[in-house]
Amino acid sequence: MPFLHTARLPALALLGLAMPALPAMAQSPSTTESIVESMRTLSGKQKARPSGAKGQCFTARFTPTPEARALTKSAAFAKESAAIVRFSVGGGNPKVADATKTVNRGLSLRIDPNGPGQSEFVMVNAPVNFVKSPEQMLAFLQARLPGADGKPDAARIKAFTDANPETTNQGKFLAGRPVPASWVGVSYWAIHPYTFTNAQGAKQVVKFRFAPQGGEAGLTDDEAKAKPADFLAAELTGRIAAKQPAGFDVLAVLGTAEDAKLPATQQWPDEDKRPSVRVATLTIAGLEKNETCDGQFFDPTNLADGLAGPTDDPLFTQRQPAYAISITQRF
Ligand code: HEM
Repeated sequence: MPFLHTARLPALALLGLAMPALPAMAQSPSTTESIVESMRTLSGKQKARPSGAKGQCFTARFTPTPEARALTKSAAFAKESAAIVRFSVGGGNPKVADATKTVNRGLSLRIDPNGPGQSEFVMVNAPVNFVKSPEQMLAFLQARLPGADGKPDAARIKAFTDANPETTNQGKFLAGRPVPASWVGVSYWAIHPYTFTNAQGAKQVVKFRFAPQGGEAGLTDDEAKAKPADFLAAELTGRIAAKQPAGFDVLAVLGTAEDAKLPATQQWPDEDKRPSVRVATLTIAGLEKNETCDGQFFDPTNLADGLAGPTDDPLFTQRQPAYAISITQRF
């Protein structure tokens, strides 16, 4: 960005010339910039993602069902395509043990990477997010930043949690379930409400859940303790080699415009009992070098026409700029 001498601006105005817009660098950081900075501070300013820091890239196939075409005209759901998947273990520690209970598991997906169906999802193994807005995310992170003594302030965290009880919903969901025994042994949700548009222009609100084809596979606390720190990648390559189930049914849980207004920290009413349509399957094919997943960030707002995220929700729209900032800082 060219440097602009802001001191000259009043003089331009006095001469009746149009004032150029101030460059972003002259302004205070945006909420999104502050979120990424706080995430990086909390994860130790390392050369890795500040969320989902530990992960492994895989190749995959995305196979839409005939039922999908009634719901969407999206090229992503028109025919089978190649895909890449990055599975991760949540948090900003690239050395976190795979059997850690308190962090989520992530699934980032790029469908049809070089074709007209290119679409991306960045999902976790919970149906709710830990915050409902970028402002609440920033406050959540800031409450955890170390004080002058280099330590987080327990009283400050408690005060934030008491004032924002919904920020515990995701943690409670994870705590109530076993540690996943496999990256393909747990459900993942895209959390946000999406809208399908079909060839006739009809719209349908949906919530995506990727349900494991081999069923949920969990570890008892004792089994989790006995696992090696890095068991997840080997477990999945072993499954693929043994031709065991290594994929997901992509379910579109049917919702309404009213459901779409609910905050991301809250499930839809009776969400688990809702009808859903199996719109695709995702089959993990094999290990892929991590560079394939690391060179370009997964952008959940990148969706082929016929599928859209909630463009009026900043929690969704700010993900693209956050990931775009983060990728420049993690090498
Ligand atoms: C429902 C909401 C969200 C979910 C489910 C989610 C999930 C994830 C996952 C799974 C990753 C790992 C990505 C990978 O494998 O490459 C990630 C990374 C990240 N997330 Fe989110 N996220 C959400 C919202 C947000 C928001 C609102 C922000 C900030 C405004 C944010 C900031 C980040 C950043 C900075 C990274 C690191 C990205 C990179 O370096 O490539 N996330 N998120």
